[in-house]
Amino acid sequence: DWTSNNVITDQVALIKKQVGDGKVICALSGGVDSSVAGAIVHQAVGDQLTCVFVDHGLLRQGEREQVEIDYVASTGVRLITIDARDQFMDALAGVTDPEQKRKIIGREFIRSFEAAAEALVLEAAATDGEPVKFLVQGTLYPDVVESGGGTGTANIKSHHNVGGLPEDLQFELVEPLRALFKDEVRAIGRELGLPEAIVGRQPFPGPGLGIRIVGEVTWERLELLRQADAIVRAELTAAGLDDEIWQCPVVLLADVRSVGVQGDGRTYGHPIVLRPVSSEDAMTADWTRLPYDLLARISNRITNEVDGVNRVVLDVTSKPPGTIEWE
Ligand code: XMP
Repeated sequence: DWTSNNVITDQVALIKKQVGDGKVICALSGGVDSSVAGAIVHQAVGDQLTCVFVDHGLLRQGEREQVEIDYVASTGVRLITIDARDQFMDALAGVTDPEQKRKIIGREFIRSFEAAAEALVLEAAATDGEPVKFLVQGTLYPDVVESGGGTGTANIKSHHNVGGLPEDLQFELVEPLRALFKDEVRAIGRELGLPEAIVGRQPFPGPGLGIRIVGEVTWERLELLRQADAIVRAELTAAGLDDEIWQCPVVLLADVRSVGVQGDGRTYGHPIVLRPVSSEDAMTADWTRLPYDLLARISNRITNEVDGVNRVVLDVTSKPPGTIEWE
């Protein structure tokens, strides 16, 4: 019988058997899969598990706190946060090409995670000589099918999120979600008592806000986009539309300026694009017909509250031909 409780019980037993008294590491992204995978493994092996969260500066408002405070409170996991914001900003300086951004973000992510893993290995060696042998991956059943079904050591789904770990860091993978679909993972997350903000989270790309700034990524632009994105998310939630919408990228056109007027002054600011989409699987999508009064409220709030933005535009393109993200 499939119940989330049975799945948890089974997986906890399997993980205990696989890991024994070995040490385990897990990279958290703030997303559903890694959060649930980490929580199950923690149920199985407790503090043999260390979770690592890399703050690359491309997160949305409140996401780091959600992991550091809410996730830790609800699971009790041992968490290390790596503040890699400067490292990522430096690496992204002057870069405007979307694929180049993805490559750099993936590479820097691996670097910072690797550094954290090495530090843990050294720490472990200093205390009891027991190296970190296992790496938790939130691989789902659709990922397994897509990548041909292989398992074992090292290499991670390369198209999304983590982007592949280096060859010389050899871990045995622990993949408690390999037989599951997304909605089952969410059910398990709820059963484990994870915060709804994490369990119910809509898709958010691994490269984060870095691919939602059309143009160079700078700290000022990220702060501006974070504010606009937070307003949009709050208004969509308040309107009760979270379940209707697949996701709603909020995009800053950093290299575009338009003339506006505010108070008795002329402004020359940036546009923010709203990209609400409805979809089953992100392969195809349609733009969501949001109520006009909601759009008006979002537009008013963004132009009033976010300095430097004087125009809000709505993307009314389906996929295809438009992708969901702008980059
Ligand atoms: P597109 O823009 O290709 O997006 O229509 C389809 C889905 O994939 C997400 N996406 C990404 N996720 N790394 C990720 O982890 C990426 O580089 C990336 N690019 C797009 C996008 O948010 C949507 O859900």
